[in-house]
Amino acid sequence: MHNAAFAALGLNWRYLAFEVPPDHLRAAIAGAKAMQFAGLNLTVPHKLLALDMVDTLDESAKKWGAVNTIHFEGRHARGDWLPLREFGVPSRQLRDGTKHPTQPPEGGTPNEIRAVGFNTDAGAIVTALREDLKVELRGAKVLLLGAGGAGRTAALKFAAEGVNSLFLVNRTRSKAEAAAVEISKQFPSVGVTVGYPKTEVEVMVNATSLGLKPGDPSPLDEKQFSLRQVRAVYDMIYNPAETALLKAAKAAGCKTANGLGMLLHQGAKAFEIWTGKTAPLKVMRRALEQSIYGH
Ligand code: ATR
Repeated sequence: MHNAAFAALGLNWRYLAFEVPPDHLRAAIAGAKAMQFAGLNLTVPHKLLALDMVDTLDESAKKWGAVNTIHFEGRHARGDWLPLREFGVPSRQLRDGTKHPTQPPEGGTPNEIRAVGFNTDAGAIVTALREDLKVELRGAKVLLLGAGGAGRTAALKFAAEGVNSLFLVNRTRSKAEAAAVEISKQFPSVGVTVGYPKTEVEVMVNATSLGLKPGDPSPLDEKQFSLRQVRAVYDMIYNPAETALLKAAKAAGCKTANGLGMLLHQGAKAFEIWTGKTAPLKVMRRALEQSIYGH
């Protein structure tokens, strides 16, 4: 999606994937900094590790306790920090010893570069729920399955958005309980319960990894909660496009959406941080659909 977006905006940038063992994460971030990369995205298991490896944390990363986006900034001669894109392209030395006739460095080459950690995941779930399911979280009753990394962040974000009540279900109950305690402390006005609701809810969100593998069962225990008690179901999983949960939800008449919108919006926000330009959402969505679903 990023390469399609760069092409659409005529940017001579590239987005590349690197597989980095966690033991080498610090060296990889330092290497990207030394090579003056514009930025990085990180995924599991690096999002938590990177908290201690960047030079400074944006409010978003502090708040959600995870880094999925890094932006490299250079210190200007004036002393302030600027995106590296605002420093000129260093003129290259040609083989014959002359300088490459590129434009002269605008702000000079930074003599210090810092890595700033952001989190664009939390905002993306809210945007995706609004866009794909027309769900407004303020005042809503929400059932959330999963209290791992993604589940905990979603639970805190839902509370911050002012949901009325939040029901947390997780295979390992203690993790849901820990998230509930955290929410009660930070957002005392949100009613948080560990376990399935007895009443109807506006939306159910799956943040477990159950459904990723072919043949995985639905993460919902239908003996404890019926799909007839929920209007809309969101599955953070985007591949496969339709999990057992979404299939059952559709059959029960719920409005459904998979995690593609979340993937799109966390990427679009990162794109805007790196480039300073508005992300071309349609182009990015199209590129994602083509690469993931092949159509
Ligand atoms: P992520 O960063 O994607 O959230 P994670 O932190 O490993 O990854 O969390 C995975 C989530 O899926 C957890 O809620 C996990 O439940 P546990 O906390 O009990 O491990 C849930 N999960 C994974 N496999 C599961 C399974 N077979 N049945 C139910 N829940 C499962």
